[in-house]
Amino acid sequence: MYPALSDELAEVMKSGWADTELRDLVPDEQAPYAAKRRAALSARFPGDRLVVPAGRLKTRANDTEYEFRASSEYVHLTGNQAEDAVLVLEPRPEGGHDPRVYLLPRSDRETGEFWLDGQGELWVGRRHSLAEAELLLGLPTRDSRKVVEELVAAAEEHPATTRLLRSYDARLETALAEHTTRHGDEELRVFLSELRLVKDEWEVGQLQAAVDATVIGFTDVVRELAQAVASSERWIEGTFNRRARVEGNGVGYGSICAAGPHATTLHWVRNDGAVRPGELLLLDAGVETHTLYTADVTRTLPIDGRFTDLQRRLYDAVLDAQEAGIAAVRPGARYRDFHDAAQQVLAERLVEWGLLEGPVERVLELGLQRRWTLHGTGHMLGLDVHDCAHARTEAYVDCVLEPGMVLTVEPGLYFQQDDLTVPEEYRGVGIRIEDDILVTADGNRNLSAALPRGAAEIEAWMSGLRG
Ligand code: GLY
Ligand code: MN
Repeated sequence: MYPALSDELAEVMKSGWADTELRDLVPDEQAPYAAKRRAALSARFPGDRLVVPAGRLKTRANDTEYEFRASSEYVHLTGNQAEDAVLVLEPRPEGGHDPRVYLLPRSDRETGEFWLDGQGELWVGRRHSLAEAELLLGLPTRDSRKVVEELVAAAEEHPATTRLLRSYDARLETALAEHTTRHGDEELRVFLSELRLVKDEWEVGQLQAAVDATVIGFTDVVRELAQAVASSERWIEGTFNRRARVEGNGVGYGSICAAGPHATTLHWVRNDGAVRPGELLLLDAGVETHTLYTADVTRTLPIDGRFTDLQRRLYDAVLDAQEAGIAAVRPGARYRDFHDAAQQVLAERLVEWGLLEGPVERVLELGLQRRWTLHGTGHMLGLDVHDCAHARTEAYVDCVLEPGMVLTVEPGLYFQQDDLTVPEEYRGVGIRIEDDILVTADGNRNLSAALPRGAAEIEAWMSGLRG
């Protein structure tokens, strides 16, 4: 233990520090895009006070916290990622809104906070000053330690419907309880989810960068498969994770590094199993960029570099289903079309192999193929891996595709190890192929096309990497 803090030391710590204010900052390249998103939000809720928190640190134990990630809604509207931050759109009497963002300022030297407080800059690193943040974000800033008091005062002095994005900042939920309604807040959440359905050009660039880094991560994994065989699936997870941390912020979701029968568990993230030659590795992983956009890519690879005949037959069926799905992604198509197209192919194969009794139309009508296809064929992708999850059914699942939407196409076939309805050699085989597809003006673009997909291409790629 340190001795008690002396007055002399406290005094000494206050002074002798250089002025490090950054005065030549230029606005962040995302700032104009975030401003457009805020303008759309302002137009949707005229006259309402809108409150979008980034979220707060969550204690792991004692004085250690879980790694922080700002809410996607806050990031989308500001381009900022600070903890404890809050975006407020204050309605103007004449219409429109005045935006402001509440942030933690630089640590005060006078009070000793910078070295005595756990969130002081000496412990966690330098923050931007409020003036610096204002320049970078193109938004007026205020001290986040005053956010509760200022919002309550505003709600009392200038009554307006207040809408709060819930579940990120309990302080605000309590403080604004009398001024908000569950229904009003839910409308805000739904709108912010739908605002992300169509990506702007800057977001598409970020998603492509996320995918490009992910391609490098998959390549790293193939190069290190021998070490994985000698250790476990954890080697694969660690290898991909290292690349994700170097190229971006980290992984966009828990990497699924599923070797052998683990591939039949859809979200196998324990990643503690053996990696055996002769079996398949299902790797479902995505790098999240520094700006928090994530890729979501899956490849199913033969661990020893060559598919067996059976593995290849099953693989080709999933590939054909994926090709049919991707071909159904274009502006004007229904969101459901790519799923239906992929399911059609898989149902046909399952009938052909004698696992299901035809006709195929009956199988599809009753959904019987789903015993082995298990999940939907894709989802929107963006700041969240399952992006836009709060959008209304009519805006998402029942929507018509538009240029700028980005979605995954990821059919799979999964034969559980204890499935007595399939021949023994099928059991324990799981295959998924997943790519990230941008809807363009005249069709689509596969953002992850750089990663080999056909069985022969995969074998050639693996053989080149493993020497
Ligand atoms: N990549 C995991 C999922 O889409 O659920
Ligand atoms: Mn996915």
